[in-house]
Amino acid sequence: MRLLVTGGAGYIGSVVAAQLLEAGHEVTVLDDLSTGHRDAVPPGARFVEGSIADPPLDGVEAVLHFAAKSLVGESVEKPGLYWSHNLGGTLALLDAMRREGVNKIVFSSTAATYGEPERTPITEDAPTRPTNPYGASKLAVDTALTAYAGLHGLGAVSLRYFNVAGAYGPYRERHAIETHLIPNVLKVATGERDEVSVFGTDYPTPDGTCVRDYIHVADLARAHLLALEACAPGEHKVYNLGNGAGFSVKEVIEVCREVTGHPIPVKVGPRRPGDPAILVASSERIQRELGWKPERAALRDMVEDAFAALSGK
Ligand code: UFG
Repeated sequence: MRLLVTGGAGYIGSVVAAQLLEAGHEVTVLDDLSTGHRDAVPPGARFVEGSIADPPLDGVEAVLHFAAKSLVGESVEKPGLYWSHNLGGTLALLDAMRREGVNKIVFSSTAATYGEPERTPITEDAPTRPTNPYGASKLAVDTALTAYAGLHGLGAVSLRYFNVAGAYGPYRERHAIETHLIPNVLKVATGERDEVSVFGTDYPTPDGTCVRDYIHVADLARAHLLALEACAPGEHKVYNLGNGAGFSVKEVIEVCREVTGHPIPVKVGPRRPGDPAILVASSERIQRELGWKPERAALRDMVEDAFAALSGK
């Protein structure tokens, strides 16, 4: 198929673009390079630098939409930025798609649409009560996709990611401001940082640190290829993507020590505002309906691949 991948110069978008090319699709990457990197666009993809408000849709049969602002903390400080980019930008993209007759979209949604969960693991019918503008803006897009599917016959699939980790060959997480746990821990192993902060050890979890559901970016990316096939006119499907198993911050750091052989000094700090104690996904629906299965579910696989890509191996 001829596909447009918005945000394909970013971490997850570049991995999905690479897998789409491997599967024989024709890929155009659209990215404004505000957080992405030109050299992360896989060879073989056409690259257009620009905004999602003016997408190159000529001949395109479906869109995979990753381009977004995605920092929870920044969203609390600058909510307008998140509403205008994530919701406003996506509505402009959807309108352009309607004009050009492109009626399939796979959308990067997030576990942050759920907020603090009532039950674990989180299923897709759990209440959506986002606790920050990032999650709220993504939820608003999900709501718009449901409406566009019903009104205009759009075929849409939203994938709600939990904690994405690992690398796919050279394609890895590279943020100017790094807030995520695994890349921050690995920066200690490579000497870029002296220590890693643990945000809170007084949570109601077995070791007092937050528990998250880590999913390998290669497994996550494969789900997008299945989602693309599952886009059906008039339907909006929503799937959680995680492993269904949680690891605490301390467990993650311990695995990083084993993989890197570095002692990784730790500094215990206060809780980070807005962090729920436990976030674990039920991926039962996507496994049942689309036949998705994680292949690199071990945390060690994710840390090994992230470390190898970081060290250029
Ligand atoms: N953490 C630390 N030290 C760090 C970084 C993180 O202790 O230096 C802790 C956090 O407090 C949290 C855990 O490690 O308990 C994981 O934090 P991340 O920042 O790696 O990931 P989050 O769970 O906060 O965020 C992820 C996605 C978001 C998404 C959210 C859904 O990155 O995009 O899940 O809740 F919104």
